[in-house]
Amino acid sequence: MNDLEKYFEENNKRLIHKLSHYFDVYDKHFSRFRNKELTILEIGVSQGGSLQMWKSYFGDKAKIYGIDINPKCKELEEENIKIFIGSQSDRKFLREIKKSIPPIDILIDDGGHTMIQQRVTYEELFDHINNDGVYLCEDLHTSYYLSYGGGHKRRGSFIEYSKNFIDYLNAYYSEQRSLKVNYFTKNVSSIHYYDSIVVVEKQNREKPTQVKSGETSFENITPKKGRINRGIKKSFAVRRFNKILRLFRLKSIIIK
Ligand SMILES: C[S@@+](CC[C@H](N)C(=O)[O-])C[C@H]1O[C@@H](n2cnc3c(N)ncnc32)[C@H](O)[C@@H]1O
Repeated sequence: MNDLEKYFEENNKRLIHKLSHYFDVYDKHFSRFRNKELTILEIGVSQGGSLQMWKSYFGDKAKIYGIDINPKCKELEEENIKIFIGSQSDRKFLREIKKSIPPIDILIDDGGHTMIQQRVTYEELFDHINNDGVYLCEDLHTSYYLSYGGGHKRRGSFIEYSKNFIDYLNAYYSEQRSLKVNYFTKNVSSIHYYDSIVVVEKQNREKPTQVKSGETSFENITPKKGRINRGIKKSFAVRRFNKILRLFRLKSIIIK
C-alpha cells in the first residue's frame, strides 16, 4: 500500500472521491516531486478532500491550487491551498489563472469530465506546465459516455483527441506534411495510458540521434532500395498529374 492509499484509508478529513486504482498511478508519476518546492493544480475540488491529500503527500513546500465551478468551494481554502472559482471550459478564465499562478509541475484534470472541458483545459494549460512536469487527465471513461460527448471512436472524444499525441510524439520521423514537429514533439518525453487515465510527461527534447557501440559481427544485408520501392514509386509525370487532379479536388480518380 503506498502513502496515498494509506492516507485515503485513514482519511477522516474532507471527502475524497477517486477510483481505487488511481492511487497507484499517482504514486508512480508523482513520487519524485515529494518534499520539493512544487506547484500543483487540480481541476475539480468538490469537497476538498483530494487537495488535502496532495498537501499531506507532497509536504509543506507544495503550493496547491484548485479550480471549481461551484462557488462554495472557495470556503475550502486553507494554508497552502488556494481555490479559484470558474469554469474549466472558459478559455478567458484559464488564461487569467495562468497569469496568477507559477508554472505548474503537476496538473490533474478531475473536473466536469466532458469532452469540451477536457480539451479546452489541455489546450489552455498544457504549455503552462514546467519542463519535467506532468499532465494527468482522469475519468477518461467519459470518452465512452454519449451523454458526455463521448462514444466509441466518436470524433472529438478526448480519447480520440489524445490519440493524436502518439503521432506528435513521433513527428520527428514524419516524411509527410500532414504530420509536422510541434510543441508536443519538442516538449514531451512519454505518454502513459491507464484505465481511465492518460499521463503525459514533459521534457524538452530534440530529434534523437542514432548511436552505436561495440564491434560489428558480420556485414548487414541491406535490401536494395530500388527493389523495395519498385511497386510504389510513381513516375514524375504521374505525380504531377495527380497534383493537378488534387487541385481540382478529383482525388477519387487519382492514379495509383
Ligand atoms: C469528481 S469531482 C472532483 C473530486 C475531487 N477532485 C476529489 O478527488 O475528491 C468534480 C468537480 O468538478 C467540478 N466541475 C464540474 N464542472 C466544472 C467546470 N466546468 N469547471 C470547473 N469545475 C467543474 C464539480 O463542481 C465537482 O466539484
